[in-house]
Amino acid sequence: MRILTGIQSSGALHLGNYFGAMLPAIQLQNEGEAFYFIANYHSMTSLTDARLRRQYTLDVALDFLACGLDPQRCIFWKQSDTPEHTELAWLLSTVTPMGLLERCHSFKDKAARLGDEIGSVNHGLFAYPVLMAADILLYDSNIVPVGKDQKQHLEVTRDIAIKFNHLYGDTFVVPEPRIREEVAVVPGLDGQKMSKSYGNTIEIFGEEKATRKKVMGIVMDSRTPEEPKPDAEKNLVVQLFKLLDSSEGARQEELLRAGGYGYGNLKKAFFECYWNYFASARERRAELAANLDYVNRVLDDGAGKARAVAEKTLKRAKLACGLD
Ligand code: ADP
Ligand code: TRP
Repeated sequence: MRILTGIQSSGALHLGNYFGAMLPAIQLQNEGEAFYFIANYHSMTSLTDARLRRQYTLDVALDFLACGLDPQRCIFWKQSDTPEHTELAWLLSTVTPMGLLERCHSFKDKAARLGDEIGSVNHGLFAYPVLMAADILLYDSNIVPVGKDQKQHLEVTRDIAIKFNHLYGDTFVVPEPRIREEVAVVPGLDGQKMSKSYGNTIEIFGEEKATRKKVMGIVMDSRTPEEPKPDAEKNLVVQLFKLLDSSEGARQEELLRAGGYGYGNLKKAFFECYWNYFASARERRAELAANLDYVNRVLDDGAGKARAVAEKTLKRAKLACGLD
């Protein structure tokens, strides 16, 4: 069984990335052949600062490895080291109906946020799901662990694979999404989906003081500590708490429900839990950051292994459509 996922290098990774994609990917390392990559080509659709891209790419590598990605058990690399992705994306784009891409929520949301300014909505943003389909199909992936926001993109991948297979003969494996319901959408500090692009994140490796301040600053309702809070299960911090520690999260919920327990206490307890949860990963991250040669070697080795697979699949696709 092949498992594949990608994470864009477009900002510091956060609890949404961790619970939605990274932790499932880390756990799946033991269940099949795992292919995990840093989607730095995709990051070009929203980030145009070369220095930042380089920085974020390294950050994603450090974050993912520190959180438990094991290079002995998975292939981990940078997307731009396997340019087969962009070549396959062209082949796939010729069988992708425009309407399929026009219907993508992610494109519509991003385009709406960027507004009408000429040139702000680039073609890469529109074609994003086709490149993502190429990422997935190049490795004959069976399972793709992602958060719910990527479900539609996976449906596009499946449609493209089916269409290509229909037109040119059986070439690609049609993949399945793997979305865990309990972490399908991790909420951000403002209650919307936690996302790098909404500025509402709790970073996995945020700086202590700044993150404490962020947590203590989460806006809640104006009920006094004494008041019982019968709707405590809807509380954002309770929800995040349960992801980190389900039994302690449930206990905090009961404390709020009973009354005599304020939001300040809850936030303090949450911060402590978060800080301890990532303590050993934080240490590992510092060790990795002091040993960048090792990190670069992991990515280079990964690229070599990924490329061997990607070349074969691309060749198969080119043969199928009469290019070779
Ligand atoms: P962002 O939205 O912050 O830019 P990415 O698009 O790079 O994050 O997402 C990387 C992975 O993390 C994807 O699989 C995505 O589904 C998952 N993910 C991102 N945010 C969340 C969230 N709030 N809840 C669950 N999964 C998420
Ligand atoms: N689009 C994904 C995201 O924004 C990242 C990604 C790129 C991806 N290629 C992929 C995820 C292939 C899974 C498989 O989160």
